[in-house]
Amino acid sequence: MTESSPVQGHVFREADYCLLIDRRDRQYLVHLMPGSTFDSHIGSCDLTELIGQPAGTWIETAKGHWMIAFKPTLADLALRMPRIATVMYPKDLGAMLVQADIFGGARVVEAGAGSGATTMSLLRAVGPGGKVTSYDIRQDMLDQTLANVEKEYAVHDNLELKRGDVYQGFDETDVDRIILDLPEPWHVIPHASEKLVPGGILFSFLPTVLQVHEFSQALRAQRTFQVIETLELIMRPWSVAGRSVRPSHRAIGHTGFITTARKCSPQPGAETRQPPESSAAETSDTPPNR
Ligand SMILES: C[S@@+](CC[C@H](N)C(=O)[O-])C[C@H]1O[C@@H](n2cnc3c(N)ncnc32)[C@H](O)[C@@H]1O
Repeated sequence: MTESSPVQGHVFREADYCLLIDRRDRQYLVHLMPGSTFDSHIGSCDLTELIGQPAGTWIETAKGHWMIAFKPTLADLALRMPRIATVMYPKDLGAMLVQADIFGGARVVEAGAGSGATTMSLLRAVGPGGKVTSYDIRQDMLDQTLANVEKEYAVHDNLELKRGDVYQGFDETDVDRIILDLPEPWHVIPHASEKLVPGGILFSFLPTVLQVHEFSQALRAQRTFQVIETLELIMRPWSVAGRSVRPSHRAIGHTGFITTARKCSPQPGAETRQPPESSAAETSDTPPNR
């Protein structure tokens, strides 16, 4: 898959995505199709000129403004490609790959596909020897995911898109990782428990703490998941220009919470093990006067 991926090469080819950046750092994602043009207030230019040129090349608009053309990164694509569902942001996509330990050759089940940002990140990480099966309950979401994947990966035979309600279950067995970005992931827990390999990882991305709480409680009640952990990533871009070095005015607000859990054999005994922090919070870690 990666060899045929347009984004991997250093030279622009027909049908590639291209990221144009103007002198004010405004960024535009364009598609290099024969006869396509870029039009904006700084003038237009013929995008066909870029085909065959190396990435990092400059192109001049009819009004004499220069723009630089790069191949978009996965982060650029996630934020700028066409979407009909809210995508996972690059900071969370990066964390997903590490926290869910997505490895080359992994068999991953994902839901929902949405606009495909998560799918594209997973495809790259599992590589040609892996497999991503991506479910969505809506056909228009699957169509959007496929359209976005196809523009990035010329060959994507490590992807299978399926229409289905994962709350009711899914077909795959011996799954290494399950990645969920949907509103009620607790319905998936019994299926995940049955289908994950021993030690496999269940990952969920949720926007509110009430959802995280319900999901975590359901994981504990299932008794076949341990190392149940939740984190939130806060990213603060900085502006570094001349003597003005400060946090950027454009902050990324709240995106969501990441929860991961590992599949284990059923926990012995009747008591559900409590998370370490609940006991710590009630004893020595409790701040005085509270
Ligand atoms: C927030 S979007 C996922 C975005 C995706 N992670 C991305 O980065 O582009 C949530 C998706 O879950 C799908 N969905 C909701 N409930 C579902 C279910 N029970 N089974 C399968 N898909 C579901 C929705 O149709 C929607 O496309």
